[in-house]
Amino acid sequence: MRKVCVIGASGKLGRYMVRHALDRGYEVVGVCRERSVPKLAEFADRITIVPGPTNDREVIRRAVAGCDGVLTVLAPWGVRQYSSGTAQAVLDHAEPDARLVFSCGWHVARDEGDRYSWTFRATVRVVTLLARLVRAVEIDDQLEAGRRIFASDRRWTLVRGSDLEEGESQGLPVWSRHVGDPVLESNLTRRVDFALFMVEALTDDTLVREAPAIVGCRAPSALAHAQSRRPPGLPGDGAPASGENP
Ligand SMILES: NC(=O)c1ccc[n+]([C@@H]2O[C@H](COP(=O)([O-])OP(=O)(O)OC[C@H]3O[C@@H](n4cnc5c(N)ncnc54)[C@H](OP(=O)(O)O)[C@@H]3O)[C@@H](O)[C@H]2O)c1
Repeated sequence: MRKVCVIGASGKLGRYMVRHALDRGYEVVGVCRERSVPKLAEFADRITIVPGPTNDREVIRRAVAGCDGVLTVLAPWGVRQYSSGTAQAVLDHAEPDARLVFSCGWHVARDEGDRYSWTFRATVRVVTLLARLVRAVEIDDQLEAGRRIFASDRRWTLVRGSDLEEGESQGLPVWSRHVGDPVLESNLTRRVDFALFMVEALTDDTLVREAPAIVGCRAPSALAHAQSRRPPGLPGDGAPASGENP
């Protein structure tokens, strides 16, 4: 991994990803809306910024040229297929062998193995309806973006985030192939660690064509899971090994 593109670089997740990528010595290209360029001021002399809407195919074509990896924030904003347009542009224009890592939430189901509580389903349904009414957010379009990614034969990973909080890094989140797995029950991840998982996924081939649902490695459900797998009599604080696939 030498050069990576962060699409949606000016948001909170995007800026954490830029920082992690620079820490690894990667050359970074960031895409964000023109009005958000000042939010990248702290990186201005270290990254290349391509201003423009992330669903603009020409903007994406220019930004991803020559990139070994592309990290994409799929944000459900607007009512003009912003997420699916962004995902499609990346799938169409990234270099043939590039690692493509996308972000979304647990509500994007991979298959029938994902199990949701009725409260989760009801909340998503209500938010989807309300968001559609105010024409500010298009949750359905994130599902469409997910479908297009799953159908692609590219080297993709779709990282599905739990609820997020700010705070210092706790380490690489743990993940499960399916929402509803007990290890995910705490439903909380630090945003900085969501970004860490995204950047680590660039060089983790075991995550190619996977849709890991993640949770913080120090969330109670992750700790309980690690404890249950620890051989009896072994000392330890219960923290799971970083990046462990439950
Ligand atoms: N928030 C959560 O609790 C949560 C939970 C699970 C998963 N996720 C996932 O995490 C990722 C980051 O989400 P986040 O909530 O943490 O937000 P975030 O990192 O702050 O990113 C929001 C992104 O949306 C863009 N944006 C905002 N308003 C927009 C508009 N009207 N039109 C077009 N773009 C707009 C922002 O660009 P500008 O800088 O230009 O405004 C930014 O790139 C997303 O993929 C999301 O699905 C979030």
